[in-house]
Amino acid sequence: SLIYVLNGPNLNLLGKRQPHIYGHETLADVEADCRRVASELGQDIRFHQSNREYEIIDWIHEAREVAAGIVINPAAFTHTSVAILDALNTFEQPVIEVHISNVHKREAFRHHSFVSHRADGVIAGLGTEGYQLAIRRVASLIKSGDK
Ligand code: DQA
Repeated sequence: SLIYVLNGPNLNLLGKRQPHIYGHETLADVEADCRRVASELGQDIRFHQSNREYEIIDWIHEAREVAAGIVINPAAFTHTSVAILDALNTFEQPVIEVHISNVHKREAFRHHSFVSHRADGVIAGLGTEGYQLAIRRVASLIKSGDK
């Protein structure tokens, strides 16, 4: 099956951006890790990043037609975007939300997530490994839904 992996604003700078918080891996490294794990599990992925809210919404709409699950790190849109939540609410397959950092250990404005109102699971603070774990979870939800 096809899993969409969507990344929000500023994640294009991963590896250079506040490495004490987000680590030294780049988004290209994360993509390579995701592809490796997905192929081990017999899954395909489409991996995207955008700094523009509407592009993320458009990818979610596209996922409605073709994807069996979504892994999403909405980045700062996590805390602001009812529009991304509404888009995810139109998607009927598994959704796992990922944050590289432990948002609950950080500023209060990062403690609320609009996306968590829809997500089937949330991973935070496990670094970029969180993406691989999220793909594993989506894959097992896809399998159990297959029954
Ligand atoms: C983030 C956490 C958000 O609060 C922040 O705005 C990000 C990245 C994370 O992966 O830890 O850009 O989603």
